[in-house]
Amino acid sequence: MTGKQRSFSDSVYKFIDAANSSIAKGHLSEARESLIGALVVVPDCHPLYLILGTVVLGQGNLPEAGRFFTRAAGLVPKDTQLQLMANVFRNSNDQANNPEGLLFRALEVYPDNLFIIKLLATVLRDKGQFRRALVLYANVMENNESEIEWYLAAAQTYRRAGDMANARAVYEKALKLDPNSQSAAENLTVLHFAKSFEQGKQPEIDISALPDCISPDPAGKLDLEQLANIAAAFAKYSFYHVISLTEHVSTPGKSDYFFIQQQVLDAMRSIDLKGKRVLDIGCRDGLFSFEAERLQSAKVIGIDNDLSKPAVDFLIPYLKSQVQMHHMNLLDLTPDSFGLFDVVILAGVLYHLRYPFHALRLVKKVLAPGGTMILETAIWDSQDKLPMLYCPVGEESPYENSSVTFFNEKGIHDTLRSLGMVVESAELLPLSAPGAVPTEHGCITRGCFVCRISDEVQNGSLMLNKECVTNYWDDLHQVHTELG
Ligand SMILES: C[S@@+](CC[C@H](N)C(=O)[O-])C[C@H]1O[C@@H](n2cnc3c(N)ncnc32)[C@H](O)[C@@H]1O
Repeated sequence: MTGKQRSFSDSVYKFIDAANSSIAKGHLSEARESLIGALVVVPDCHPLYLILGTVVLGQGNLPEAGRFFTRAAGLVPKDTQLQLMANVFRNSNDQANNPEGLLFRALEVYPDNLFIIKLLATVLRDKGQFRRALVLYANVMENNESEIEWYLAAAQTYRRAGDMANARAVYEKALKLDPNSQSAAENLTVLHFAKSFEQGKQPEIDISALPDCISPDPAGKLDLEQLANIAAAFAKYSFYHVISLTEHVSTPGKSDYFFIQQQVLDAMRSIDLKGKRVLDIGCRDGLFSFEAERLQSAKVIGIDNDLSKPAVDFLIPYLKSQVQMHHMNLLDLTPDSFGLFDVVILAGVLYHLRYPFHALRLVKKVLAPGGTMILETAIWDSQDKLPMLYCPVGEESPYENSSVTFFNEKGIHDTLRSLGMVVESAELLPLSAPGAVPTEHGCITRGCFVCRISDEVQNGSLMLNKECVTNYWDDLHQVHTELG
């Protein structure tokens, strides 16, 4: 191989390796970027389009998946399988609310495509259909025994389904398959200790007490004290966020919100947080607070009106984090509470608020000049050109009765503008993404908006149509006197 050839294929493999590792971690946006990077180097590589199609399918973007499959099919016109695949997804917009239906159809076309099976199992698992997902995993494990990743995924699904005995059994099989699997060993050890804690026993940190398949640890890589500490916390608390504790063990939070949280994480990574003061409103277990800290923010404060005990009592000390969490209602927030912030994250909160306009105004008041707000919330796909707010009460809420504020997309943009904010970027999850809720009056999806103070603000007042409107709303004014 010549030097030129080597560097050419090296760079493709670098992208593909990066994509594989992102897929394994479930970071599909990063996988997409890496695959697009590989396609820049080898533009006509049809397998890359096929993988890219399945990755964006995993993100719930069916129309884009259709385009990638069509491109792959165009590059190998004689491949009838690819043609069929492209056809399945080509008009997928019509069936956007039924990704598993499409994936089942894709499986008829490609019965052995492991990536589609994995996606389908993930979609089913995220919809709480654990048994159906496990049937898929079981089939693959029977026919493809050497692939440990399937055992790990199945064990995790058993764990999500609350079936710890089977989770343990599958982790044990995984470890027999690959005795060096750190992931299987760590998770199995945590489950082993958690069982003792649940039975009220204080487990001895004694290697000989561990099951044969994890004891002794020849490489000495397991930090048993650390894993026992984690297991004790798992037995004691319930978690909302999935937060990495070791390379292989995460808090057993609700992974159903993965797609939604990924939008916020992507937005955070798109702005430079280094040295910034960050406020995470409605921080729950602190997924975004810890990420801000990891991205080298100078100060991170989280507030929540239902402060997470697992965050305060376990995660902050365990992670040796400097994040400060306060039990506080957003409605009590003023610039005197903690000063001004360069970045405010308001994720998964706005739709819970009864006074959304007032709350957004309070958030704006704690933003430093030039500051950024990352707003993630439920969006009502009202099919309407007007700015709308759907404010159901009680049983009528499409979520649950604390969720009472659903703007449509124009409603969000116009409301922010009326408060002197401009939306710099907006990402809406497709209606097919897990978690979208169809209602009689239009689907509820999720959107993430990166916003800044608008240029329409002059001397602290908002100028709309050359009129200073904020004085009218917020202060004293003379509009009617002047009108006569
Ligand atoms: C759906 S969770 C979202 C958690 C996290 N921000 C995320 O997006 O993953 C909503 C959180 O906001 C908190 N919350 C709701 N209303 C609030 C308010 N008025 N002030 C402070 N926190 C609030 C809740 O207690 C809860 O922890």
